[in-house]
Amino acid sequence: MTAQLVSTTSTSIDLDFKKLPQHVAIIMDGNGRWAQQRGLPRLEGHRQGANTLKEILRTCKNWGINTLTAYAFSTENWGRPLTEVGFLMNLFERLLRKELQEMREEGVRIRFIGDLSPLPSSLQQEIRYSMAKTRHNQTINFNVAINYGSRKEIVKACRDIAEKVALGELSPDTIDENTISQYLYTSANPDPDLLIRTSGEMRLSNFLLWQLAYTEMYVTDTFWPDFDLQQFEKAIISYQKRDRRFGKITAMPTLSF
Ligand code: FPP
Repeated sequence: MTAQLVSTTSTSIDLDFKKLPQHVAIIMDGNGRWAQQRGLPRLEGHRQGANTLKEILRTCKNWGINTLTAYAFSTENWGRPLTEVGFLMNLFERLLRKELQEMREEGVRIRFIGDLSPLPSSLQQEIRYSMAKTRHNQTINFNVAINYGSRKEIVKACRDIAEKVALGELSPDTIDENTISQYLYTSANPDPDLLIRTSGEMRLSNFLLWQLAYTEMYVTDTFWPDFDLQQFEKAIISYQKRDRRFGKITAMPTLSF
């Protein structure tokens, strides 16, 4: 990732830089189909998908979007052929090693969310190293979900909270929504403003179920490797046209009784 200025020249005039989402979450779907469409092995789709992610991260950073969270590997993805799982683990590790220096220079703070314990130990080592080396960076938060499953995350939070209660360190009547949020992997970041899902599927696939409660969703038929700057702009412009009411009614004065 080389330092680059905001590519405002290619940016649509409809985009309002004052109304950008602060946290964008992405379900990067369609790598396999992208490759198959071209007669390439599925793994080529993942390789190209990694390039796309790098470009989107760079764009977010240049535009001042504070947090990007990407779903790279779900708890269900272990069910894929061994060669594909192995390839992905290798890809994560190689990319981390290759990109770390530039992430450090560009102010990217990388974090991994999910249960990292079953990952190959060499990958776990790279993960720990990259998180430690970027922990003081502040330009953009980059969360990568690996072996992530939202229901498991919520169960873990409940167990951790229950343990605190059992130890007498937490009283049940002080537990509120904020408490739950604080026990999730994403405790350091506000909830996503925008969720993008590529390749047309209209589901959440066990991704950030708690955190997405009031997130705006954008689904495109484009396969992830083809999700370029113009596609990203389209998603942001769509987001900017939404009327985010958070369950309330806008343009009406709030009545207090
Ligand atoms: C979903 O497409 C994609 C994945 C399971 C892997 C995503 C991983 C990357 C893009 C690499 C990112 C790298 C880092 C370091 C985070 P799919 O295989 O489900 O596509 P299909 O639905 O067409 O089969």
